[in-house]
Order: sequence, then C-alpha cells, then structure tokens
Amino acid sequence: MTQDELFKVLVAHCKEYGFIFPSSEIYDGLAAVYDYGQNGVELKNNIKSYWWAAMTRLHENIVGIDSCVFMHPKTWVASGHVAAFNDPLIDNKDSKKRYRADNLIEDYLGKIEEKIEKEVAKGRKRFGDAFNEEQFRATNPNVLREKTKYDEVHARYLEAENNNDLKAYRDIIMDCGIVCPISGTANWTDVRQFNLMFSTAISNTGASDDKIYLRPETAQGIFVEYLNVQKTGRMKIPFGIAQIGKAFRNEIVARQFIFRMREFEQMEMEFFCRPGTEMEWFNKWKENRMKWHVSLGMGAGNYRFHDHEKLAHYANAATDIEFNFPFGFKELEGIHSRTDFDLGNHQRLSGKKIQYFDPETNESYVPYCVETSIGVDRMFLAVLSHSYKMEKLEGGDSRVVLSIPAPLAPVKVAVLPLVNKDGLPEKAQEVMNELRFDFRCQYDPKDSIGKRYRRQDAIGTPFCVTIDNDTMNDNSVTVRERDTMEQKRVPIAELRSIIDKEVNMNNLLRKL
Ligand code: GAP
Repeated sequence: MTQDELFKVLVAHCKEYGFIFPSSEIYDGLAAVYDYGQNGVELKNNIKSYWWAAMTRLHENIVGIDSCVFMHPKTWVASGHVAAFNDPLIDNKDSKKRYRADNLIEDYLGKIEEKIEKEVAKGRKRFGDAFNEEQFRATNPNVLREKTKYDEVHARYLEAENNNDLKAYRDIIMDCGIVCPISGTANWTDVRQFNLMFSTAISNTGASDDKIYLRPETAQGIFVEYLNVQKTGRMKIPFGIAQIGKAFRNEIVARQFIFRMREFEQMEMEFFCRPGTEMEWFNKWKENRMKWHVSLGMGAGNYRFHDHEKLAHYANAATDIEFNFPFGFKELEGIHSRTDFDLGNHQRLSGKKIQYFDPETNESYVPYCVETSIGVDRMFLAVLSHSYKMEKLEGGDSRVVLSIPAPLAPVKVAVLPLVNKDGLPEKAQEVMNELRFDFRCQYDPKDSIGKRYRRQDAIGTPFCVTIDNDTMNDNSVTVRERDTMEQKRVPIAELRSIIDKEVNMNNLLRKL
C-alpha cells in the first residue's frame, strides 16, 4: 500500500469505527471541519490528559487556565495577527480552486526530493554492499541535476518568503511550470494576502467596531491572564501557564483531513523566564517535548526537529517537532522563543504595567517567554496513522489492528461472554462491575468470539477478557492481548493489576 492509499484507508477506518466523522455530513459536510465520534473523543481526551498531567502535575511551577475563545479585539492587534497572520493565496482560473502559493512551491520541492531519493534507492539496489551513498550523491549526474534545480528554487522561495514578495511567489510557480492538480493548467491569478482569522460581531447593531475575532491561537488567552495568574498564584519566575482549547483559522486546505482544520484544538504552554535565559529554556523545552513524544513508543526515528529558517514575527528562535505522517515528515508541534513580544505589546496597547519584580536581581522587567504548542488533532492523526496495521494471519485470515499506545486507547478492556446463556452474561457483568471504576470497559455479547476480537482490534482495545463455562467453576478468565494475540488464563482477582500495568498513564509519566 502506498502512503497515499494508507491515508485514504485511514480516513475510511476513522469513520467506520466511530473515531471521526465529517461535520454536518447529512448536509454534505463542511470543508476542513470534523466531528469526533464515540471512540475518537476518548482517544482525544486521553491525549489531552497525558499532556495536561505532563505539564501541570510533573512541574510544580506550571499551572493551567481555561480562557475564552472571544477576546478583546485589541488582543489581536497586540499579537500582530491583524497585520501579519496572512497566507499568500493563488487561484487557478480554470478549476476555480484556491491554493496557498507557498504550499504549491513546497510540494514541487518535495517532488524533487522524492526523485533524488528514488535515484539513491536505485543505486543502493544496483551496487548492493559496495554502495557508497555519500559518493553516489556527490557524483551521480541525475542526482546532481535534481539537486541543482532544488537549490535554485529553494533559494528563490526563501527570498520570496523573507521579503513577503507576492510577485516572486508567482514567478517561481510560472517558471517551474507548476500546474493546478485539478485542471492541469498554469492559468493562475496573481498572488494575494489573505488573513486567516474568522470574525463575527459581538452585538446585533452591525456597527464596524462590534467586530471580534475567533481566537486563532490559545496562547493570547494566557498572555492576557499573565498578571492575574502570577499574582493570585504567587508564581515566581521561571514559571509556566498551560491551556488546552479551541482555535479557529480560515485555512485554505486541500484533502488534508484533520491535519489542517478550520476549527481545531491546541495544547499550549507559555513559560515565562528572565530575559537572557530564554535560549537555555528553549533548549530544555525542546528536549522535554521530544521526550514526551518518544515515551509513547511510536519510534524515536519517526520524529525530527526542523529549525525554522524564517522566524515568525514574534520569535527569536523556533523549531518544529515533525512526525512521519503517511504523507511524509510534517509539523506536529512548534516550540518558539517568543521574547517579550506578546507581554510587551499587551503592556503598550492596554496601558497596564505587565512587569515582574525579580527579588534575586532587584529588577523589574517584562518576562521573556518560551512556548510549546501542539495541535490535539494533529497528535491524534500521528497516533492513528502510526497505529493502523493490516496484518496477515495464519490460515490466510487477516485483521486490521490499531496498536494505539495502551494508555491512550479509547477502550481499555472488552468483556466478552463466550455464549449469551448459562449465566455467562451475568458473570461478565460482574467482571465489568469490578473493572469499570478503573478502566473504560466495553461489554460485547454478540457474534462469534473471532468477530468480536476483530471489532476490538479495529478500535485498538489492548485487552479482551472472555468468560466461559470454566469461569463459572474456577473464577478464571481468558485474557487476550491485542498486539501479540496471545491468550492466557488468569484468576479474575488478578485482572485489575494485569490490565493496570499496561494501560495506566502514570507508567508513561514516570518515563518523563
Ligand atoms: N501559538 C503558536 C501557534 O499557534 P502554530 O505553529 O501556528 O503556532 C501550533 O500552531 C500547532 O497547532 C501546530 O504545530 C499544529 O499542531 C497545530 N495547528 C496549527 N494550525 C492547525 C490547523 N489548521 N489544524 C490543525 N492543527 C493546527
């Protein structure tokens, strides 16, 4: 299966098993807006709990808040979003489709990279053990030709980005012969700037000063509450404020599922520190956040840092943690050193003094800030895309299994009476009543046991517990483990501790 096909299968699987539905589907849906179903919401809540616990329980100097989506309009002037939260857009006149000009160029560069990697793979196959990759990359004419092309376009792209030069974007698109994937033509409009914030009105008068925005990031809620939290929490620098909440962006999207949505959730933490110490904290948080990801056991090789060449308007250092999604390595989380940009601007626009008196240095200053920001939905996609496996079984059978890290799984244990009679359902309910206070359980009495195992595999349930006639005599059950499919007989009295050992989130937290 190609990566592209895997992605399509994943979208279908999410719908079939109650993870994600297109929003308002009975009205044909709404582009880039999705609802989470009965299993999706559990996985999402578990991701959020893991992040929240890692931030606020493991760090005595990090506290959480929950601020509103609606904020005073000046917030977005101070943050720079009114002036600079734009994407360069271009329309194809034939298909009438709209694209981000930078994305079209990045995709073009990505294809060149793919060509280079294909050449290298061919070389590896041809030369076998004698293959010297470094030498091959430095001498193979096909690789060199593509590399030169890549470097030229990349340099022009960076310059266009740095200078915010809309004409330069279009020139690259035309010179490279980049065409619309729908119409196949290069009949493009000029490139224009498009602000990504959604707006609405706070009252019904329709006056222009009624306009407010739906927040495009949760971070600003933290900045405007900085003084309240610092004072009421008697927080001493360095300290952090964490928040999980909805954000809204009018994204121009093409078939990216929950990777890029118009309504999504962020988990953000702003860490306030003394000016001059921000790079030390930036590096600490890079390491800390990478550890959080790797602790989930989805393979350290599936993550990498990507340091920004062009910094956002508020940052003096920035990196992304990228994940190996089915469509390649892409941003999962951003870590930014935001300087005193936000607090400084809020101080200026609000006229309120936002300063910290540092008893160690006897100085007052606007604190500097290091931010970690991860999309809940993107994290969800990372977990699902990594977990989805189609396996061939002995005897020609096959199964689809989601090997979701056990502490994040929507259902932790399924309780299955082998037959729906002879007192087995009642015994199964007894087991459910034992386990339901510690774990999310699902009771399933219908169909053959094989079919029931498949249903649980498909939603990633780590354990199935089967109640059979022997259970009635000896109080033992069969426990089947999801990934190995191994079964073992255990006393009911031991079930809780066997399951807990694998699914308890504290086991992950202890690794951090
Ligand atoms: N406060 C900083 C900030 O918002 P960002 O890089 O624009 O930075 C942070 O966003 C994270 O939010 C991203 O790494 C990504 O995981 C997630 N994110 C951003 N836009 C998104 C979208 N349209 N849909 C889903 N997730 C998104």
